[in-house]
Amino acid sequence: MEKEDILYTGASPTSLVGSRVAELLPGNTPSHAELDILNPDTFKEFNPKVLVHFAAATNVNACEMNTDNARQLNVVGTKNLVDYFGRRGVKIIYISTDYVFDGTAGPYDENAVPNPINVYGRTKLEGEEAVLSHCDNAAVVRIAFPYRLSGPKSDTLRWMITSIMEGKEIPVFDNLRANFTFIDDIARALKILIDQDFKGVIHVTGDEIYTVYEVAMTVVDILGENFAKYVRPKHFEVSDGVAPRPLNGGLVSRYRSSLGIKMTPLEENIRRIIESQR
Ligand SMILES: NC(=O)c1ccc[n+]([C@@H]2O[C@H](COP(=O)([O-])OP(=O)(O)OC[C@H]3O[C@@H](n4cnc5c(N)ncnc54)[C@H](OP(=O)(O)O)[C@@H]3O)[C@@H](O)[C@H]2O)c1
Repeated sequence: MEKEDILYTGASPTSLVGSRVAELLPGNTPSHAELDILNPDTFKEFNPKVLVHFAAATNVNACEMNTDNARQLNVVGTKNLVDYFGRRGVKIIYISTDYVFDGTAGPYDENAVPNPINVYGRTKLEGEEAVLSHCDNAAVVRIAFPYRLSGPKSDTLRWMITSIMEGKEIPVFDNLRANFTFIDDIARALKILIDQDFKGVIHVTGDEIYTVYEVAMTVVDILGENFAKYVRPKHFEVSDGVAPRPLNGGLVSRYRSSLGIKMTPLEENIRRIIESQR
């Protein structure tokens, strides 16, 4: 696949996931203004073979407060892309989330029935449905808690590591279980999925399913017991301005290993991030 064959939405330099994926799997990365998913007039400039769709309203609490914006970006924007590019036979890869599940009985594989409990999850699921029901060759790639080793936009893992190393006490949820996922692994997985023309839903998440507190304590194990005082376990609770979360979540996959998709151990990357910040 040549660079010009892959088109990304939502891979601007300040984005968390798309910007790093596009470094490892080169493609066309138009800015928000050059390719606005809410303005189909901007689509005409592009003629890809594969569209990898990252652009979304991603702030879970903001989605809960501003349902219209979440629906516009996650549903209407996705439908616009499906109408234009899907109709032209472009393979669409939609990046989705573990938040399509309710977190009552995780971990979930690709056959589990989604039941989102917040606006973000509901609108992302509607985006999935728009893609899968209108494009025969589409793929939905569900990821969770993406992190990278460096980059302008922080993520939960780097926030925890930096805070603990700087001696700032942080509250971390001890009742929210999920997989942290290395974005470099997502990029390598996308290459495999494109090369093998994967169709349907696949979960691409780290192998370990831990509470956020357990991940923070892995950081402490590496740094030394004297850093434990900076980790304050906290129960996640819904309150004003805070959207419900799937607590007992986590994703597993029926297909990943047979496709040759491998994930880097979380502890190895925690060590690399710590080393890079010493
Ligand atoms: N981050 C997570 O924890 C997480 C977890 C699971 C799944 N995901 C999924 O992974 C994907 C990427 O997430 P992310 O965290 O990397 O997102 P992000 O950092 O919030 O970046 C979102 C991107 O979308 C662009 N965008 C916003 N509105 C647009 C529009 N109307 N037209 C075109 N582009 C637009 C933004 O560009 P500007 O900044 O220039 O506006 C930005 O490049 C999303 O689909 C998300 O649902 C994320």
